[in-house]
Amino acid sequence: MKKRTLFVCESCGAQFFQWHGQCPNCKEWGKLKEKELLDTKEKRQKKAPAFYSLPSIQTEKDIFLSSGSKIIDSFLGQGLVLGSVILLGGEPGIGKSTFLLQLMSGFCKNNKKALYISGEESLEQIKLRASRLNINTKNIYLSKANLLEDVLNLIENFQEGSFVAIDSVQTLIDEGVEGVAGSVSQVKSVSSKLIEITKRKNIITVLVSHVTKEGQIAGPKLMEHMVDVVLYLEGDKQYNFRILKALKNRYGSSNNILVLTMTEKGLKIVEDPTTFFLKARDPFSAGSAIVMTAEGQWAFAIEVQALVIKSSLSFPRRVSLGFDINRLHLILAVLEKKMALIFSDKDVYVKIGAGLRPNDPGLDLGITAAILSSYFEKPLPEKGIFWGEIDLNGQVRPTLKEDLRLFSAKNLGYSPIVHPALDEDAKKAKNSNEICISHVSELMDFLKK
Ligand code: TYD
Ligand code: MG
Repeated sequence: MKKRTLFVCESCGAQFFQWHGQCPNCKEWGKLKEKELLDTKEKRQKKAPAFYSLPSIQTEKDIFLSSGSKIIDSFLGQGLVLGSVILLGGEPGIGKSTFLLQLMSGFCKNNKKALYISGEESLEQIKLRASRLNINTKNIYLSKANLLEDVLNLIENFQEGSFVAIDSVQTLIDEGVEGVAGSVSQVKSVSSKLIEITKRKNIITVLVSHVTKEGQIAGPKLMEHMVDVVLYLEGDKQYNFRILKALKNRYGSSNNILVLTMTEKGLKIVEDPTTFFLKARDPFSAGSAIVMTAEGQWAFAIEVQALVIKSSLSFPRRVSLGFDINRLHLILAVLEKKMALIFSDKDVYVKIGAGLRPNDPGLDLGITAAILSSYFEKPLPEKGIFWGEIDLNGQVRPTLKEDLRLFSAKNLGYSPIVHPALDEDAKKAKNSNEICISHVSELMDFLKK
C-alpha cells in the first residue's frame, strides 16, 4: 500500500499534504513537521457506523453533586455534574486557582474526594494558598505533573465520582503530539484526552486556562466547543470585585453571572449585587446619573459620569472609560442634530463607575442624561434612574430585560424611574414615579431648574 505523509504545523496545528517552508495558515516559518498518515481503512472495517431510531436511544440521567454552596449550585444549574468538563478561563492573577481550591473544599464537605493537579505551582505554594483560605481537608490530594501521560495515570488511579482539577491545561504536554506546551495542537490533544477520561471515569474535571488581556484566547476558544461548561473569571484588580460568567452551560442558563470580592481570605460571594457597584456619590453635582443596567440574572444600579467643557483644541477631545467610544460619538451627533446643541467646541469625557465595562445599549439614556446635566451645569434628580437605547433619530428604544430593571429600580425606591415607552397598556398602569419617554429631548424635563 502507498504510504502517505502529512505535514502538521507545530504552532497552529494546521495540516497539509505538502511541505511548506512557511505555514500557509499562520505564516510562521519552519514549523511544519512530517507525520505519517494512519491507515484508517482497517479501523473503518473493524467498527462499521450504525444508525438508531430516536425512541430506541436510552439516555442516562445527569447526576448532580453539590458544590457545597447553594449559590454556586444554582449558578451552575443544579450543581456539579458527574462526567462533565468545566473550562475555567481568566487572566493570570485574577483568582482562578483560589476559586478552584474553594470550590474543591466545598465539594469535599460531603465526604467526597478531590485531586488538584498543578503544572505550574509547587505543592508548597498550593499548600500556602490553602492555609490562607483556611482549607486543610484530608480529602484534597495534590500532585505536580506536566506530562499528560502522568496526569492520565493519576486520574486512572483516583476514585471514580470525584473532582479533578488541572491547573493549567496550557502547562501539559502530550508527548505524542508536536508543538510546545500551550500550542494549539497540544491544547487540542490534551483536552480531548482529558474529556475522554472524564466521561469514562465519571468524574468532574475543571480545566484551568489562561486568557491574556489582549483576548489572545486561541487555546481556550478552541476548547469551548469541546467542554460542557465554560466559565470566565473577570474583573478589575484595582477594584477588588470579580465577575464569574457562565458563557456556555449544558446544564443550566448560559448567561448567569456571579459577583465576588477578593478578600484577605479568598473569594467571597456577593449575595445581592444590585447596589454593589454604586459607591458614595455626590447627587448634587452636575454630570452624574444612575443607570439600571442588566447582565445575566441581575440588574445593577451603576453611576455614569460626564464632563462637558470648553475645548482649546482644534479637534475637541472625546474620552470614554468603560463605554464604547463609537456610541459616545453617536450620542453627541444625535444631540447636535436633534436638540441643536453645539459640541464642536467642547471636550467631552465619559466614565462608568467602579471600573465596569458593561456591554449594555441601555446605558445610552443615562450617559445622555449625564452629558446634558454637565452641558447645562444642572444636576439630575437625586434618586432618579435611567435606562434605554438611543437610535439615530433620537428615539428612545426598549432594551433587554425591561421587567427585571423596572423591578429592581422600584425595589430600591428610585424615583423618577425614566425608561423607554413600552406599549399603551403598560403606560396606563404606570405609577407617578415611573416616566416613559420616547425621545431624548424629553430628558430636559429632568434637569433641575
Ligand atoms: P490566583 O488564584 O493565584 O490567580 P490565578 O490562578 O488566576 O493566576 O490569585 C491571584 C491573586 O489573588 C494574588 O495576587 C493574590 C490574591 N489573593 C488574595 O487577595 N486573597 C487570597 O486569599 C488569595 C488566596 C489570593
Ligand atoms: Mg493560578
